[in-house]
Amino acid sequence: MIQKINEATAFIRSQFNAEPVVGIVLGSGLGSFINEMEVEKEIPYDHIPHFPVSTVEGHSGKLIFGKLGGKNVVAMAGRFHYYEGYDTAAVVFPIRVMKFLGIQTLLVSNAAGGTNKTFKVGDLMIIKDHISFFTHNPLIGKNVDEFGPRFPDMSEPYKKDLIEKAKAIAAAKNIDIKEGVYCGVTGPTFETRAEYKLLCQIGGDAVGMSTVQEVIAAVHMGLPVFAMSVITDIGIREEENTITHAEVLQAAKDAEPKLTYLFKEMIAQL
Ligand code: HPA
Repeated sequence: MIQKINEATAFIRSQFNAEPVVGIVLGSGLGSFINEMEVEKEIPYDHIPHFPVSTVEGHSGKLIFGKLGGKNVVAMAGRFHYYEGYDTAAVVFPIRVMKFLGIQTLLVSNAAGGTNKTFKVGDLMIIKDHISFFTHNPLIGKNVDEFGPRFPDMSEPYKKDLIEKAKAIAAAKNIDIKEGVYCGVTGPTFETRAEYKLLCQIGGDAVGMSTVQEVIAAVHMGLPVFAMSVITDIGIREEENTITHAEVLQAAKDAEPKLTYLFKEMIAQL
């Protein structure tokens, strides 16, 4: 594993003198975030040795290097989901590569279904904690000590100081922002009514098919994480409506300017 990470990292460095300090993972429908970046280099995933390749609509599949908020950043346009059939090592591969490229903070975004009754479509939710459901832990197997310890502490997967920073940035700009617990599921089915209800009852505020494994791998390597969900649909609801991928993408797109602003300001203040 280490060898693969080193080969991928070496290849990237051979293409571009990459010295990113922040890594950014963009969720479904949130890719035009890139327009805010001063792009210096794009490297398609399929050029990088050992890198998985993205298959989902709305994900373009490349690493983008450049400046944002005055800092060198690397953004993943397109991420790897467990439901696509990748194993957990593939899902977290880019996170490990970004860490080996030198990032010191990881910012993660995702589209998620609301399981908090007070949430509306388009809300932004700071992830303060997560509950991992059904997803395989990416650290199962022999521990790679170069990454981190066998039994990593998970008492603060999302750094409190980064959360406070985000809240202050949002308040200063009058951006309404929620805070809550993200439940990670495998998908690719959206949840049944009974499942949304269960997730609400056990303290979940949002549910999605990404993020948890990436965050575990980041925490394993001692990387401070900040993550935010865009609420793209309301799972916990009375009326008889369905949820479609198209609706999720549209809602994410609509909320994107707010998310972009927050990430950009956060990076500037790191
Ligand atoms: N459930 C799971 N994943 C999601 C949802 C949802 O309702 N919306 C966007 N991603």
